[in-house]
Amino acid sequence: MVGNLAALATTVVIALVSGCESSSGTGPAAGGGSAGASGAPSVGVAARPAFDRSMLAALAPLPAAVDTSPPASPDRVALGKMLYFEPRLSKNQDISCNTCHRLDAFGVDGEPTSGGHRKQRGSRNSPTVLNAALHFRQFWDGRAADVEEQAMGPIQNPVEMASDQARVVATLSSMPEYADAFRRAFPDDKRPITLKNVGVAIGAFERKLLTPSRLDAFLAGNDAALTADEKAGAAVFAQTGCPTCHLGPAVGGAMYQKAGLVKPWPNQKDPGRFEVTHQEADRMLFKVPSLRNIEKTGPYFHDGSTASLDDAVRTMARHQLGKELTGDEVKGIVVFLKALTAPPPAELVTPPELPRSTAKTPKPDPG
Ligand code: HEC
Ligand code: HEC
Repeated sequence: MVGNLAALATTVVIALVSGCESSSGTGPAAGGGSAGASGAPSVGVAARPAFDRSMLAALAPLPAAVDTSPPASPDRVALGKMLYFEPRLSKNQDISCNTCHRLDAFGVDGEPTSGGHRKQRGSRNSPTVLNAALHFRQFWDGRAADVEEQAMGPIQNPVEMASDQARVVATLSSMPEYADAFRRAFPDDKRPITLKNVGVAIGAFERKLLTPSRLDAFLAGNDAALTADEKAGAAVFAQTGCPTCHLGPAVGGAMYQKAGLVKPWPNQKDPGRFEVTHQEADRMLFKVPSLRNIEKTGPYFHDGSTASLDDAVRTMARHQLGKELTGDEVKGIVVFLKALTAPPPAELVTPPELPRSTAKTPKPDPG
């Protein structure tokens, strides 16, 4: 690592216009040690940070499955998919999981914060559901243990789907197709239609939402899976220090870290994990998000405050690592991150056919 840093430094191209990339106005003083400042425009042979495989040693390929034990049956996964797309789980029957986590849009809604019941807005950005089952905890503040527990949250959240256990059970029980599907998915349960089983089934479906990318092919040993530019970007990513937090198979999702570890986070309104534990040490702690599909899941950060990935990368270097990146370094990192983009398999994304409401199905309630 140290050797590679030195190698990088020797390939530095003289910056003709120093600091021109920094639009923040903080200037080089805030830099504090950016690794290898290759400024644009370069002269002659373009300097490319030397890359070797060991730089990505903190990352890991996606596992083939993130199953519960025993793994969920295909019937349970199929039911989970229906429920994921089921707007009648919401009080006004107009919002499903897929409204805020669109599977045809990389598991997000593209908004800073999401509109829920009666168009109310929560205060946090919708993270992607893709690969979320890998995370060590769920939500920005980690308040749910796994995707099964998580799924019960939005159904009952007054600004999201605004429903409750009684309404959910009455709704699903009113449709014979659902009664059958729950019996098949939970053959050992006397009364299979419960809010808990809704969460278990949706969780089983979410566990299938893995998106292996070219990074995985590379990590599995295929050197040609990343281009020379992406490898150069990976070197900047590694040498800047990003994988100290964004690591493991999800390239994140493995720990809490303080937003603004080195330089205070600009927006302190949401105290993150502090809201769950009320421990001072947890103020501004957030789960480190996954960087898989990050190209497609903006706007960024818990408050959705940053629209461009370039800006998000620059902010990270500044606030988490105390480094000012040059324009070329930001570009390099972003080129590398785009190699983590991969949509989920089509059969998971295609909306399922949902049973028709019956006379017994509760009516939409806009109140
Ligand atoms: C109104 C928009 C909305 C709806 C509907 C919604 N979510 Fe979310 N979801 C969010 C927001 C916002 C967060 C982040 C909240 C937080 O961290 O406090 C989130 C977080 C999550 C997470 C955690 C991901 C991570 O990286 O921690 C998962 C998984 C998830 N939602 C799945 C679901 C499922 C399953 C449903 C349907 C039962 C659903 N969501 C319905 C907006 C929504
Ligand atoms: C000290 C730990 C740490 C380091 C180092 C770090 N990050 Fe982060 N990263 C976080 C945390 C925590 C968040 C969530 C911050 C928030 O939203 O409040 C985050 C968020 C992000 C996001 C936005 C993700 C999303 O879904 O909105 C991107 C992009 C990102 N980091 C990229 C990087 C890059 C690139 C580097 C290296 C320059 C880096 N990070 C270094 C901890 C870290």
